[in-house]
Amino acid sequence: MTALPPSIVTQLLLLVTICSTVSAQFPASRCCETYCYSQDSDRTQVKHFATKTAYEVIHGPSSSREHIVPNCRPSKFWLLSRHGTRLPGKKAISALPQTLKNLRDSILDNYDVRRTRPDVGRMCPDDLELLRNWRWDSNITTDYESFLTAQGWNDLKFLAKREQDRFYEVFNGPYVRENYLFRHTKTQRTEASFRAFADGLFGDGAYVHVNPEPEPADDTLLKPYDFCPAYDANKDRNKDANSEQSKFLRSPLFLQTLSDISTRLGFQYNLSVDQVEAMWDQCRFEQAWHIQEYSPWCSVFTKEQVNVLEYKEDLGYYYQNSYGYPKAADLACYAVSDMIQHLARPENPTVIGYFTHETEIQLFLNALGAKQDREAPRADNYYAMRNRQFRSSELTPFAANVAAVRYQCTDPREPVKVIFFLNEKALMFDWCKVGLCDWSEVQRRYQRYTEGNCAKLYCGGSGAKRVNGGGNVLVMLVSAMMTVVLAAIARK
Ligand SMILES: *[C@@H]1O[C@H](CO)[C@@H](O)[C@H](O)[C@H]1NC(C)=O
Ligand SMILES: *[C@@H]1O[C@H](CO)[C@@H](O)[C@H](O)[C@H]1NC(C)=O
Repeated sequence: MTALPPSIVTQLLLLVTICSTVSAQFPASRCCETYCYSQDSDRTQVKHFATKTAYEVIHGPSSSREHIVPNCRPSKFWLLSRHGTRLPGKKAISALPQTLKNLRDSILDNYDVRRTRPDVGRMCPDDLELLRNWRWDSNITTDYESFLTAQGWNDLKFLAKREQDRFYEVFNGPYVRENYLFRHTKTQRTEASFRAFADGLFGDGAYVHVNPEPEPADDTLLKPYDFCPAYDANKDRNKDANSEQSKFLRSPLFLQTLSDISTRLGFQYNLSVDQVEAMWDQCRFEQAWHIQEYSPWCSVFTKEQVNVLEYKEDLGYYYQNSYGYPKAADLACYAVSDMIQHLARPENPTVIGYFTHETEIQLFLNALGAKQDREAPRADNYYAMRNRQFRSSELTPFAANVAAVRYQCTDPREPVKVIFFLNEKALMFDWCKVGLCDWSEVQRRYQRYTEGNCAKLYCGGSGAKRVNGGGNVLVMLVSAMMTVVLAAIARK
């Protein structure tokens, strides 16, 4: 063995020095709390998946007794429901398979080959195996974009069965047209949700005999947000740099979360918001489609990271569809007015069921005055709002629903009472007694919406009658400009 020439020893020493300097520049050896999703039987974070939360983990239990009121008998059931669990939209189905495959391959490469995983807070071997075996379900193609899934069907079918058990006095006997009023928006997922609900009530396949009302052209009852340019303008404002959601996306807390997620997955750079959202969306969808299974994509987040992602969504919804948008409540005028009109009369129909979308449920809850916090959620008060009432996961999971139940009571002073249920849990208002509300008080509280002037309240009275109202403005602008240009040319 010959000794190494001194020059090589020097070079080796130099290399060692450089290496240790480089690794000192990447103190990426720790990131977050140690967490192993595959070995967590509770997985409480699945209750914080915002509007892609599974209904099963949110709704009130069938054993609940909140609906039983001494000396009162339920006499009418009015329901506003979101569709059940669905497939992703077209854009997501087109992009996600490749985006996710690339991310998965990079993460495995980071762990297996590059060995850039952190020392503390790294993914456990079981979670990595989950990810290794992940495949995009080839049955999910754009032909089925946003379709109701099998679980989505069951969401509505079993909701119907539980409500029928609770309120058997209202849901008695076979289907009789006069007793039941149903309506859904013009989408596959709400139509299928209606059918599932009907099947839950009357037996498998019974929906073919149940006639829903046709949806009118401008459905201001179920989709008021589709015909209001002011709503769209506010929605756009929420994407501006100074909106609370945008500010949160730039906040140290959120940037640190992105950095932690990236470090944990072995990346030596920060993933983009889009990349993190791709993983989160897939996690949330897969968990909602297969409630008992473990979605590999949920394993890439710790519980605390999920809470931060949930908050980001809540900031968006709060300022788009709820207390953060002063005109939101009035958009639900037609729905509140419809509810009050039905509850006012004991006559048929005794069951009213509407099948719509998350936005309508959020607008409606806002009009009811439900789930309001003393403080508004903002970009800078994440920790103060940890126990907030306004949580899109609780308010609008898949199949989210508000049921208003009319009770006929023996109380001679107030014979009619109402309980409002959100996702099968009684809503507590300070003007009701543990959820039980006097009819006179209900009328008083929602008088604003029942004075027959929804046309005036709705969209500040400026609602365009047609869907393409915004488009018309553009067409008018363009044609006005053309006229000016043409006139200028003509003058030459
Ligand atoms: C696709 O659908 C078929 C028929 O319903 C089913 O047998 C198969 O397991 C599905 N494929 C996947 C990847 O889930
Ligand atoms: C990632 O983001 C964190 C938090 O904003 C920042 O401190 C860090 O420098 C970023 N890392 C890289 C490699 O850019």
